[in-house]
Amino acid sequence: MTANPLRDPRDKRLPRIAGPCSLVVFGVTGDLARRKVMPAIYDLANRGLLPPGFSLVGYARRDWEDQDFSKVVHDAVKQNARTPFREETWAALSEGMRFVPGDFGDDAAFATLAKTLAELDESRGTGGNHAFYLSIPPKFFAEVVGQLKEHGLTDSHGDSWRRVVVEKPFGHDLASARELNRIVEEVFPPSSVFRIDHYLGKETVQNILALRFANQLFEPIWNRNFVDHVQITMAEDIGIGGRAGYYDGIGAARDVLQNHLLQLLALTAMEEPVSFSPDDLRAEKEKVLSAIRLPSDLAASTARGRYTAGWQGGEKVVGYCEEEGIPADSTTETYAAVKLELDTRRWAGVPFYLRTGKRLGRRVTEIALVFQRVPHLPFETTATEELGQNALVCRIQPDEGTTVRFGSKVPGSAMEVRDVTMDFAYGGAFTESSPEAYERLILDVLLGDPPLFPRAREVELSWQVLDPIEEFWATQGPPEGYAAGTWGPPSADELLARDGRVWRRP
Ligand code: BG6
Repeated sequence: MTANPLRDPRDKRLPRIAGPCSLVVFGVTGDLARRKVMPAIYDLANRGLLPPGFSLVGYARRDWEDQDFSKVVHDAVKQNARTPFREETWAALSEGMRFVPGDFGDDAAFATLAKTLAELDESRGTGGNHAFYLSIPPKFFAEVVGQLKEHGLTDSHGDSWRRVVVEKPFGHDLASARELNRIVEEVFPPSSVFRIDHYLGKETVQNILALRFANQLFEPIWNRNFVDHVQITMAEDIGIGGRAGYYDGIGAARDVLQNHLLQLLALTAMEEPVSFSPDDLRAEKEKVLSAIRLPSDLAASTARGRYTAGWQGGEKVVGYCEEEGIPADSTTETYAAVKLELDTRRWAGVPFYLRTGKRLGRRVTEIALVFQRVPHLPFETTATEELGQNALVCRIQPDEGTTVRFGSKVPGSAMEVRDVTMDFAYGGAFTESSPEAYERLILDVLLGDPPLFPRAREVELSWQVLDPIEEFWATQGPPEGYAAGTWGPPSADELLARDGRVWRRP
């Protein structure tokens, strides 16, 4: 076997390599499959993390042969893969590509799928191990899992396994999420259901656990005795692009606050798990999610907005309502901010401010713990005019790393104190570049390693937080406007101003 050029020969850790298996992707013609899923599979192959007989099966309503599918994957890989294109990797991967044409109601097509998988077990040694990736709108979940069951595709024999991967949005509210969980778990046991929240696949998100629980330095001050408040920001500079059909009627809170932001909150606020076993880790996250309390005055503790025309990166961009495919009477928000509190001994009285939006000043995701001011400053008032509050910031993306902000003496003959920062940057500390979230998550699916996948209860608890907010917003008029390229609607600033605080300007 040739040495993998992407592996550092000095790295003595055993790589986690998936055993014999195939991945069947439904919705293979979709945007997500093209931009993320297929390139991630190639990157895994290129890193030597897939088994030799690995097979990729596409299922879609297209009149394609295997070669046509292979060409689509090839283009997606060329455009979006993280690692360099190597003919050798591609040749090995493309040998295991199959395509099954059909729609979701097509019995004959599912029978062909069953035959195809049996043939792969025979010819490529996939060993009866097959994962089904539903990269399709949730309204089709019931039909597809029903068909899989009907055609015996969910039955594993001996040591072999069958798994299902589902993408968000996992429901529209608590009731629909419960229904989806019921549909999927009626067919697949909970341990075989992998719900993707791609934020959990990001290195910097996993690093929250390392930062907190591998160090002595931070955990003693990670609580209400020292922390004044927490700000979790996921700001995007892009608009909705070509996703009007998906986004309108969903909006910022359902699209990312219910999942990515509440997961970030859970990792930031949870107690130390007994171990990183899937049950221990997820139990701690669930405790936090069930301890979230919404302030009673939702008008004062939430804000929503939608972008209007403006300038971004030197370019004039249209407002949300002028985007193609958006109805003129849309009430969907592209910005959402909420203030949440946690009923736990560690966090009682510490507000968590969450915000997300499209077409904001710049793309940045971060978690900032802002600390209380010192109880007493033994300096002249003028000496500390430029001293802010200490802060610890986990920079999720871009410029991945961690920053600590604290006061330092300004050089000179007078005692003057000003904020400075101490910075850890991934790029400077590590030579290897971070894998894409989808690489990690797809590999974990194939390995059957579930800690990074939220289980049913986490998803339901998150909807339980959001439902009252959505119900309240539904009684209000359209969202407040904010010009593209700015930092959201005035009501978001007022939300913090009422508490005597301001949003960070990352
Ligand atoms: C997705 C949302 O889950 O996350 C998108 O549906 C959003 O609206 C995307 O743009 C952001 O992901 P990332 O990894 O670029 O921060």
